[in-house]
Amino acid sequence: MLSHFPSKSQILVSPDSAEDVDKTILPASFRPDHQGTGDSRKFLEISSRAAMNAKTTSLASLACSVLERILLSFSYEQEEAATRGATANYNLENCLSFAQQAIPDFLGHIRGKNVLDYGCGLGWQSVKMALSGAKSVTGFDLDEKRLNYARQLASASGASHNTNFISELPKEQFEVTVSLCSFEHFANPEQELRKMSDLTECNGYILIAFAEPWFSHSGSHMNDYIRIPWINLLFPERVVMQARRKYRQDGAQRYEAVVGGLNKMSVSRFERIIQRSGLKVVHKRLYPTLGIPLVIHVPVIRELLTSACACVLNK
Ligand SMILES: C[S@@+](CC[C@H](N)C(=O)[O-])C[C@H]1O[C@@H](n2cnc3c(N)ncnc32)[C@H](O)[C@@H]1O
Repeated sequence: MLSHFPSKSQILVSPDSAEDVDKTILPASFRPDHQGTGDSRKFLEISSRAAMNAKTTSLASLACSVLERILLSFSYEQEEAATRGATANYNLENCLSFAQQAIPDFLGHIRGKNVLDYGCGLGWQSVKMALSGAKSVTGFDLDEKRLNYARQLASASGASHNTNFISELPKEQFEVTVSLCSFEHFANPEQELRKMSDLTECNGYILIAFAEPWFSHSGSHMNDYIRIPWINLLFPERVVMQARRKYRQDGAQRYEAVVGGLNKMSVSRFERIIQRSGLKVVHKRLYPTLGIPLVIHVPVIRELLTSACACVLNK
């Protein structure tokens, strides 16, 4: 039956009305002058629906380019954007500040321990932990380029002897596993937490902290480029990704596809994952945006106004 319908391309060539259609390309039964009145009506319906669709599509494209212009008019210049954000400004003095603020006695947890840094990125925190009393630090990440940077950083910082950077899951277990600013990037965070748990010794600890859950003002992780908060809620994904191309050329068309990944981790999803992990939640804390009191206790609002999440899990 379907083969009796005009193909998509045939429908799309009818720009404005049924009359504009090249009648010769239609099956006889669909030509308006065909005797069968039922088929003719069907033809007219299909044609006018196609014309409407074409109009809607071009209106949607117009709306998208207007929205993209709005986003770009609130964006930073490329050079300025490149210098913004935590990662661009890491040094050995500040790279553990977030972990120390988010997790009570962070250094106490890692001192004298064999530590796994899960999603170590450029390795700043791994190196700093190695220099701050950890017995050894293994940095694990999927991105070889970042791992190479990490190895060079370790070497330049005198931490080569007790750091190791790998892209294959290690065979041994660790006393402490740390995951900093990575939990919102893992494509499958439930699975990664299970792996972290498997890689942690019995009675060991897993420390997780990340900033800007999905519904927070910077949940899109694009605040280094664009000055508008909550762009992921206010603008269609397609528009944001189009504007993002000014800064990043990885071709990502979806948040999940950006380099390093972005899994749209909400506060409630984070809470669900750790509750269902089977691990003991020793500590969990949500950090309200600008320290606004009480908001983290108000349903819905807590999602919009929580800027960071952290927990300490015991195996
Ligand atoms: C934003 S970076 C954070 C790096 C570092 N921990 C920090 O705090 O700066 C997130 C890292 O997670 C890594 N990542 C994403 N998915 C991963 C996975 N499934 N396993 C290991 N690392 C992953 C990315 O390659 C990226 O380097």
